[in-house]
Amino acid sequence: MRRATVLLTFALTLPAMAQDDMIERGQQQFIWCSACHSIKPGEDGLQGPNLAAILGSRAGSRPNFPYTDVFVGLREDGVVWTAETLDVFLADPLAFAPGNAMGPVGISRTADRADLIAYLEAVSATNR
Ligand code: HEC
Repeated sequence: MRRATVLLTFALTLPAMAQDDMIERGQQQFIWCSACHSIKPGEDGLQGPNLAAILGSRAGSRPNFPYTDVFVGLREDGVVWTAETLDVFLADPLAFAPGNAMGPVGISRTADRADLIAYLEAVSATNR
């Protein structure tokens, strides 16, 4: 019985620990993104739009940001940032949104994108 409890606790904590690791690695990666993006609500004035609570929000919808036409088009098409759309965008930003101002700063490794998106999801959940 006790052994079963220990095993169960282990089985339940393991995914949570793996998730924490992903978020931590994603946070490290975001240091590079933060050259152009703030994740703090309301912090504007950088080269890229604010990314606070980006998960679940419409593409190209941050107030006070001069998006390129291609991003205005994404907003008008109703594109929403989910784990899936972010994954495709971050793999190859120029293929997803030709002519966008972020340029060719894609992240080629699937695992790296998953870590970064886990971090953005965690932050979005706290600053929505
Ligand atoms: C050199 C500056 C720069 C870097 C570095 C950069 N971005 Fe961007 N990003 C931009 C700009 C500028 C835009 C707006 C594009 C447009 O209007 O065409 C943008 C747009 C975005 C959007 C869409 C936001 C919205 O409001 O729809 C997301 C999401 C995003 N970037 C995530 C990232 C992530 C994650 C990283 C790090 C891997 C990153 N960016 C690195 C400049 C940058």
